[in-house]
Amino acid sequence: MFLLLLCVTMSFVPVGSTAERNDAPIIGVLAQDLYQPAPGRSSYIAASYVKFLESAGARVVPVRINQTEKQYRALFNSINGVLYPGGGADIVSSGYGRAAGIFYKLAVEANLRGDFFPVWGTCLGFEELTYLTSGKVLLSHTNTSGVSLPLSFTNESRASRMFSGFPAYLLEAMGTKPLTENSHSWSITTKNFNDNPELKVFYKVLSTNTDGRTEFVSTVEGYDLPIYGTQWHPEKNAFEWKRPYIAHSPSAVRLTFFMADFFVSEARKSSHTFDSEEEERNALIYNHRPEAAAPKSIFEQLYYF
Ligand SMILES: *[C@@H]1O[C@H](CO)[C@@H](O)[C@H](O)[C@H]1NC(C)=O
Ligand SMILES: *[C@@H]1O[C@H](CO)[C@@H](O)[C@H](O)[C@H]1NC(C)=O
Ligand SMILES: *[C@@H]1O[C@H](CO)[C@@H](O)[C@H](O)[C@H]1NC(C)=O
Repeated sequence: MFLLLLCVTMSFVPVGSTAERNDAPIIGVLAQDLYQPAPGRSSYIAASYVKFLESAGARVVPVRINQTEKQYRALFNSINGVLYPGGGADIVSSGYGRAAGIFYKLAVEANLRGDFFPVWGTCLGFEELTYLTSGKVLLSHTNTSGVSLPLSFTNESRASRMFSGFPAYLLEAMGTKPLTENSHSWSITTKNFNDNPELKVFYKVLSTNTDGRTEFVSTVEGYDLPIYGTQWHPEKNAFEWKRPYIAHSPSAVRLTFFMADFFVSEARKSSHTFDSEEEERNALIYNHRPEAAAPKSIFEQLYYF
């Protein structure tokens, strides 16, 4: 009887079931202009973002900058999520900002009509999201350009999608030990966030941090849409070694994995595909080779485009 009940129950669970799950998710990662372009290389993606997504079962396509809107739309319809990395691009006027804006608009429209498409912003990518959602640059200077911090979880974080699959010991470690790497000199303060109606209704704040003087928002998820942001860098703990303040403890590295696992799980809910296997093959980042970055770079490896 119990078994029968179970079978009946399972046949009524279409959403997120194995039948609909996309176990071959492909995620776009945004490139950005190099500070010092050289012949044949004008933009880059730090390899740690690619490894981050690959470690949890996704493949990656680079999203090149300065493409036409038509090209971005075709790519959007072929991939299952997009990640806006950290960096130094201008969130309003750069090619990175333009591409992020086009994908954001497409993602919001798609999600509202039931075509699931997750978006992730890390550091600069999160700052970009606050600009795209509010239409305003609401950032303030903070003293957070090279420090790992414990997250101050909000009460609302307990009911979050992002952290729902995290083991209790890991959440405990994230809230008490400096495991989240911050390398930004701009932040969205809790005050500016709360004073902006667009941001406040769009994002649930999951954590905050402070530089000792100014409290800022450090983790968000969209209330209704699968749009996520962290002011900190989940990818660095496992994959970047150039700075002494990056944590590499077992909990720190698991944090990298659980964050990647969450976002890739979201991408598995998207059913976009390339028109052909050949198109897919040509778009994947496997056609490019990461190179050791200069010793003074904060990155270990970079892809150049
Ligand atoms: C993108 O376009 C901007 C503005 O024309 C230009 O400065 C930049 O070098 C271009 N970058 C790439 C990677 O094409
Ligand atoms: C900035 O923060 C660091 C610690 O992360 C501290 O040593 C330094 O004194 C701070 N600087 C200012 C101007 O507050
Ligand atoms: C968070 O929850 C605790 C315990 O329920 C409560 O004491 C506290 O006031 C809450 N904080 C906020 C900001 O709502």
